[in-house]
Amino acid sequence: MEHRLEAELTLSGSLPSTVHPDELIPRIASEAVARTIGARGQGRLAEWNLEGVRLRIVLESTGPRPHQTLLAFARRLSEELGRTARVGVRSFVAARYRTEFSLDAPPTAAITLPLPHHLTVEGTLATLSLTALSEEGLRDNWMDRAVSLVQEKARRQTYEGKEQFWSLLSASPAREPLFRGDPTEEMLKRHWVRSGPTKGKWFLGPTAAHLLRTMERVALEEVLRPLGFQEVVQPHHDSFETLLKTGHLEGLPGEFYYVAEPKTRDPAAWERFTDLVKITRQVPEEELARMVTGPTAVSCYAQCPTTYWWLSGRTLASESLPLKIFDRAAVSNRYESGGRHGLERVDEFHRIEPVFLGAREDLLALREQLLERYRHVFDEVLELEWRTAWVTPFYMQQSGRVGVEDAEARVKGTIDFEAYLPYRGTREESEWLEFQNLSIVGEKYTKAFSIKAQKGELWSGCTGIGLERWLTAFLAQKGLDPSGWPAGFQRYAGELPTDVRFL
Ligand code: SER
Ligand code: ZN
Repeated sequence: MEHRLEAELTLSGSLPSTVHPDELIPRIASEAVARTIGARGQGRLAEWNLEGVRLRIVLESTGPRPHQTLLAFARRLSEELGRTARVGVRSFVAARYRTEFSLDAPPTAAITLPLPHHLTVEGTLATLSLTALSEEGLRDNWMDRAVSLVQEKARRQTYEGKEQFWSLLSASPAREPLFRGDPTEEMLKRHWVRSGPTKGKWFLGPTAAHLLRTMERVALEEVLRPLGFQEVVQPHHDSFETLLKTGHLEGLPGEFYYVAEPKTRDPAAWERFTDLVKITRQVPEEELARMVTGPTAVSCYAQCPTTYWWLSGRTLASESLPLKIFDRAAVSNRYESGGRHGLERVDEFHRIEPVFLGAREDLLALREQLLERYRHVFDEVLELEWRTAWVTPFYMQQSGRVGVEDAEARVKGTIDFEAYLPYRGTREESEWLEFQNLSIVGEKYTKAFSIKAQKGELWSGCTGIGLERWLTAFLAQKGLDPSGWPAGFQRYAGELPTDVRFL
């Protein structure tokens, strides 16, 4: 593979006659080549010319891409000219930067990039030229990222339309449903819930709220407390910085609810807005848009990103490992668009998210313990018909990566828990409801957030317990009549609140 970088450097002044560029430029270039390319390929200064303060150089490499070479060259040149001639390198750009690389498969459609560029592909060999690449882009490694992006887009085209990775892990015995209706419809009829005042959200009246909290208690007392998980309370807004680190920002920009702030609290600045409201009794949307900032954060999408933020830059003492914590304070928000359905697919939902960190073996053992406690809950307390499956890891899905099964996929990876919803049709043909998951993510997030263990490597994982989903799965199979509910659940639910009567 060949790479060619045509750079233009601007010096802070012309060179005095005491400096001999014919000796200087090739010497500094070959030092820079030796330092950054060395034996990993053939690197060379292919051309150069100096006119006044403009120095044009062309670097070629058959090994690493030569932008590091250019950075080393510019640094050394500045040092040496500073010393001998009080001249520095003021700035540089890549007029043209060409690189070759291979793709897994030939693309099936055009590939776009948001930078000035030219891309050609022959078979699986791609040639990408970036033009007018800024100094920031060179320093910050945009070329390598652009290459990865092209490779990923090509890979995505190949996988598009193919089935997601799904492989059955366990299945409970079949259970005769006590109910075949849609639980949300039934709850609506009884006024247990009402579709919320804003998109995809539900208001749970006392009975539904009681049942949701009952599910929460089951999770706490049957799973989390016995396994020694401790509660944390985390903020509800996720920073962009956090979501940049997890990959959510690039993977899911269309699925967030964004947070905006008032530009000011000063009532005087809001006077026009207030006056318009008083006169028109409507939302003065244009005025509002003028008075609030663009998005500054994201309303919680999943809790684990901010849990990792809490630990970022810290070293965990051995005595605190494995660390087992959970949050149930932040409420998850997802922009579902067309996908909403009843209580099981909503824009706002309540989830307990346990997160765990520790050595690989400790986490693999903890996963077994969690699976066993979950099995107990779903078999013996809720008496559900349910199954588990290995699926595309959530962190690949959520960072927009293509999920391919690799050798580690069943060590790390995500297990989905699914429940049969009789109202959707037969067991074999209908889509089951994913009502929770369990993932081991290896070092992905501990690395991204620089979280370390006192000794050895530090893995992490999380398991999202979706309370609305537990509830719909249960009601879809057992119905709304408490007399049919399993004894284990009845014990937790106790007496139900009296339904509010509406006339
Ligand atoms: N972070 C996980 C998810 O978003 C929940 O455990 O699916
Ligand atoms: Zn998580």
